[in-house]
Amino acid sequence: KGDPRLEAISAAIRVVPDFPKKGIMFQDITTLLLDHKAFKHTVDIFVDRYKDMQISVVAGVEARGFMFGPSIALAIGAKFVPLRKPGKLPGKVISESYELEYGHDCLEMHVDAVEPRERVIIIDDLAATGGTLSAAISLMESQGAEVVECACVIGLPEVKGQHKLKGKPLYVLVEPS
Ligand code: PRP
Repeated sequence: KGDPRLEAISAAIRVVPDFPKKGIMFQDITTLLLDHKAFKHTVDIFVDRYKDMQISVVAGVEARGFMFGPSIALAIGAKFVPLRKPGKLPGKVISESYELEYGHDCLEMHVDAVEPRERVIIIDDLAATGGTLSAAISLMESQGAEVVECACVIGLPEVKGQHKLKGKPLYVLVEPS
């Protein structure tokens, strides 16, 4: 910490109280995307971390993982694999459900998107419970790929997600302010 870039990233994230429902402090990264410097710092930090780790796959979680993942993939020379909500991908898919606060959701991936033993990082904007990232890890592991780390712009402090991430490390840039 003490990196002034992290301060700029934190400052560029808009917090919206009671969205999408009462009691939730929504972490809005669209304002980070509007701030060219802060957006570039975000991508740069991830790129510096992963560029020499023989990563061949950057997987992004719909929807906001799509906003950061491709820039990182291009910069480190990896492919980008979208992990999508059900019914969006046209090819042969594998699915993984995960628990939400109320009910459950599902992520899908094209089975031909990764090869066994490929080294993967999984990107999203935010980790709360870690349920979404865990589903993403399961998708990759079902194809024999190796998840090196999960990376998020924002990590909620109560991210007991750590336990849920199937033993994989979670790298976060900032906590909610
Ligand atoms: C949000 C966020 C993460 C997930 C984190 O997505 O972008 O993907 O929740 O929560 P978790 O750690 O408790 O699993 P959301 O479900 O709102 O989907 P969206 O990005 O498609 O709107």
